[in-house]
Amino acid sequence: MAKARVAVLISGTGTNMAALLYAAKATDCPYEIVLVASNNPEAAGLKLAEAEGVATFAHPHKGLSREAHDGIMHDALLAAKTEFVALAGYMRILTPEFVGKWEGRMLNIHPSLLPKYKGLHTHERAIEAGDSHGGCSVHLVTAELDDGPVLGQTEVAILPGDTEHSLAARVLIAEHQLYPRILAAHVSRERDPDWLVAQVRERALALPEADEVASHGMPCFGIIKGKKFAYVSVDHHGDGKTALLVKISGAEEQNQLIEMDEDRYYRPAYFGDGWIGIRLDLGDTDWDHIGEWLRKSWQSVAPKKLAGLMQAADAF
Ligand code: GRF
Repeated sequence: MAKARVAVLISGTGTNMAALLYAAKATDCPYEIVLVASNNPEAAGLKLAEAEGVATFAHPHKGLSREAHDGIMHDALLAAKTEFVALAGYMRILTPEFVGKWEGRMLNIHPSLLPKYKGLHTHERAIEAGDSHGGCSVHLVTAELDDGPVLGQTEVAILPGDTEHSLAARVLIAEHQLYPRILAAHVSRERDPDWLVAQVRERALALPEADEVASHGMPCFGIIKGKKFAYVSVDHHGDGKTALLVKISGAEEQNQLIEMDEDRYYRPAYFGDGWIGIRLDLGDTDWDHIGEWLRKSWQSVAPKKLAGLMQAADAF
């Protein structure tokens, strides 16, 4: 399977970037580092990346608006065909536009046990507070600083006599272990059938009177004592694919969808013209869109009274 393409943004030493890069040298690592970029052309990490044969990019932020600089970095990420961004000591506050473009695909490492001690001087604050442990967190980046969903953490014991420097040094060791592991898990999950089924399940069961059964070994969602509106096809006859099957209006819509994007949409065997297969394992699934597909499919099979109630609720 193709490795996920990761770009790392740094501002300084880049030891976390180095940890990500060396972890990526393992043949079974699910990601590769395609770019190391920085707002600081002097960042030591750039030289290391170059020596390791990884493409680098630097553009100073001085004299530029935040929007303009983020735009330049974004273009460099796109040019490298980046799929995921790992922030590793990237000392810039990001614009909501930039963050929005990488939603769910941009990770950061922060040297505290979030939600504790967002921002700077984390170790000093942990010691001052008399905490038994400091640590580090890898989280998804959202517009709010150090605030996105935490994907993984490591606790690091605070020793008697620890200074912020001695603690920082130990936390850094933990960071170097944590970041590659969490990044690997994160890039893999969008191809992991269990995770994909769970995403569909969450959305399907949120629809009124929906339930789940197994049908021909497939997770199948229907209206209680009523018709089915969605199936998840997992490795059907060993095809290695994970896909959602939902109801559509008929052959015309089916052909249109397949013509529009033949890698994503397909005619599901045995289901006929009234259904469409939508690949979930391509790594770029728009889950809001999938939610819409489920809802439309639910509406097409829901008894009139139930569908009417939903429409009435939507009108508010
Ligand atoms: C790390 O402590 C990281 O948690 C924080 O910035 C530091 C970067 O260090 N976000 P390095 O450049 O990876 O050595």
